[in-house]
Amino acid sequence: MKKRVLVSGGAGYIGSHVTVELIQAGFDVVVADNLSNCDLTCFEGVKKITGRDDIPFEKIDCCDYESVNRLFSEFRIDAVIHFAAFKAVGESVAEPLKYYRNNLLSFLNILEASRLHGGCNVLFSSSATVYGETDKLPVTEESPRQPATSPYGNTKQMCEDILSDTVKATAAYGSEVMAGLDKTGPVKGIALRYFNPIGAHPSALIGELPRGVPNNLVPYITQTAIGKRECLSIFGNDYPTPDGTCLRDYIDVVDLAKAHVAAVSRMVENKMEDSYEIFNVGTGRPVSVLELVNTFERVNNLRLNYRFAPRREGDITAIWADPTRAEKVLGWKAQRTIEETLASAWAWEKHLAGK
Ligand code: UD1
Repeated sequence: MKKRVLVSGGAGYIGSHVTVELIQAGFDVVVADNLSNCDLTCFEGVKKITGRDDIPFEKIDCCDYESVNRLFSEFRIDAVIHFAAFKAVGESVAEPLKYYRNNLLSFLNILEASRLHGGCNVLFSSSATVYGETDKLPVTEESPRQPATSPYGNTKQMCEDILSDTVKATAAYGSEVMAGLDKTGPVKGIALRYFNPIGAHPSALIGELPRGVPNNLVPYITQTAIGKRECLSIFGNDYPTPDGTCLRDYIDVVDLAKAHVAAVSRMVENKMEDSYEIFNVGTGRPVSVLELVNTFERVNNLRLNYRFAPRREGDITAIWADPTRAEKVLGWKAQRTIEETLASAWAWEKHLAGK
């Protein structure tokens, strides 16, 4: 029987790419989204790419327990991938309660329903932000987490801990002692720590759709190239890096999506060695902001209007992944080149502009 995955936040940027890869890998998917930070553009794109018109879409807010509970009652769910969260670092500093309420409550509800409906496999979308600033690069999963520098980053750390505590506490469920008492069951968990997801599906039918002025680099680049923004500011060119701009590990969103398929398969096929596992999802390749801009120009054969600006508060100098564990354990490795990825980001922006 096909395994079914609930994708919360499945209408968003990463969620829609993951939905495509899951369906193409033979999973059934239920998409849940409250559309608070996206519309149905990407969900429609998912249907086109997969040729499937029957993907269940549930417009629910995961902060409402009854809605989550109903979903678990209605569908037999083998795994959940939880994306439904706010993600703007600056906004989280200005409105911490909004971030703590939304990001924590939605995840608590997913875990509670998972536990009470016979147990479930839960994949949490975490972030490399948990590593903070460190000299020991690249970072492995054993690298220590640093105190979070924003409420957003803190919710990622807290949700990792909530997942790992829940896994521990529910491990005994379903044992001889507990069996038959009620419908509770064990929760197993994987946290994927994403580095910097960028790019779009090669079909250009789904991609990143930021509302308002983009915070992240690549949408700002593509919007500048198309003429929506006047000029890209490169935040800081006096960092202690080869060209003075920050170093990041930019991971293609389709590669990232495939890491989810590998992780979910591991969970539903009962191949986990520990009931809670963590994987870095990155390329292992540091790229500077300036290199990224220059590569974007070269690959897409255009000139980008940019200037150097002061450093952005809270930015770290450099971070990139050691992706060895994901390769060894999940059999997953990033495949697309940075050139392919940046071409896909531009194709998506042009698709949005109807060009
Ligand atoms: C940030 C968050 C990360 C989050 C991710 C996705 C931190 C420290 N980082 O990553 O947790 O998961 O966003 O939302 O919390 N840049 C410019 N000009 C711009 C925009 C960005 O020069 O207009 C530079 C930045 O200084 C940085 C690089 O581009 O060096 C990447 O920035 P961005 O895309 O915002 O990602 P991060 O800050 O790495």
